[in-house]
Amino acid sequence: MRVLVIGSGGREHALALALSHDPRVTALACAPGNAGTAALAESYGVDVTSPASTAALAVEWEADLVVIGPEVPLVAGAADAVRTVGVPCFGPSAEAARIEGSKAFAKEVMAAAGVPTAAAEIVDNPARLDSALSRFGPTWVVKDDGLAAGKGVVVTSDLAAARAHAMTLLDDGHPVLLESFLDGPEASLFCLVDGTTVVPLLPAQDFKRVGDGGAGPNTGGMGAYAPLPWAAPDLADEVAATIIQPVVAELARRGTPYSGLLYAGLALTSTGPQVIEFNCRFGDPETQSVLALLRTPLAGLLHAVATGTLAAHPRLDWSPDFAVTVVIAADGYPGRPRPGDVITGSDLDGVLHSGTRRRDDGAIVSSGGRVLSVVGTGPTLSAARDDAYRRVAAIHLAGSHHRTDIALRAVQGQVGVPATR
Ligand code: AMP
Ligand code: GLY
Repeated sequence: MRVLVIGSGGREHALALALSHDPRVTALACAPGNAGTAALAESYGVDVTSPASTAALAVEWEADLVVIGPEVPLVAGAADAVRTVGVPCFGPSAEAARIEGSKAFAKEVMAAAGVPTAAAEIVDNPARLDSALSRFGPTWVVKDDGLAAGKGVVVTSDLAAARAHAMTLLDDGHPVLLESFLDGPEASLFCLVDGTTVVPLLPAQDFKRVGDGGAGPNTGGMGAYAPLPWAAPDLADEVAATIIQPVVAELARRGTPYSGLLYAGLALTSTGPQVIEFNCRFGDPETQSVLALLRTPLAGLLHAVATGTLAAHPRLDWSPDFAVTVVIAADGYPGRPRPGDVITGSDLDGVLHSGTRRRDDGAIVSSGGRVLSVVGTGPTLSAARDDAYRRVAAIHLAGSHHRTDIALRAVQGQVGVPATR
């Protein structure tokens, strides 16, 4: 099977690495890729914002399967374009990808499917803002209704700060989504969906804030671990049955079936799991942890999703270990990251590349905000954490920063679902 991966982050490096281990894969390409994917796959240029560019590459390279990593090409219709030229594609149609591309659409689908989520109101007129804010709080959740890479959200107990963020969005012409605040720890659950059948992967937790202890601004994700030792053992199956399956049925009923990966960002509240958001793709950096534990060959699995044959696929086989991923970010991230710094140690085992490129002289240099994802594994979460940080210590990138507390509170037994009130 010739497999083409679209994207250039740590998620795509993790996908390419797992695909490279599948004996059915005879050729692997990644476009546009990074210095890490270039070490295990052919590299091609592609304009990820242009569905036609992705479809043309799929035909030219004679791909048997295209795996689309990021949300931007999916929301633009890249999966539709690839399927139109007759190549099986892992990733939802543009219509189905609206579950991530429009928070208002996601809320509408959840309401129709009876799925628990925060109460929400859309405000598109500044004159209605204050009365809407008065119906929420004392913790306010203010979001941009659109793709904002996790950076368009402010969660605050300060009404003035909530109002100021909403006004900034409205001034820029973006509708604002106000939501009720969900208590409880967050979890990311990835589910494979082939239009009808749902197969959950291991639950993971992501660390969105830039600094230790959750300090500083939101990022794309600074680290992750899987599975969750503090969660109920049946969490994944429960969420698949009560949240994902009804949403998948609702999308099919509307004539826009979902095929690909459906990612539920959950709050595990005192009244049960509630949806914070859906994403139409694998999460980054959770994928780096989750795929490190998957023993089932990935190409056959993603091909089963792309061809609607997931129900006939064997049960997934998981390592009993834990995996911890620590992201090493460039100087300046999540603001303007400084590019071009030389990285040493990036060729070590367990190091996945996110924003890297190979310079003409052969040196690997930073070329993005999140530069590397360092994955450690072990028989306990504590051992996996130690393994990850041991690898981090062997890497050098001038001015870089990383969180030192990924999975720490879980190791210390300080994470749990709040008791029912
Ligand atoms: P989103 O872009 O919707 O994923 O939100 C980014 C982050 O904001 C989430 O990962 C949560 O940490 C936080 N957040 C979003 N919505 C809520 C909510 N309704 N209640 C509590 N926290 C939230
Ligand atoms: N890790 C968060 C995301 O991929 O959106």
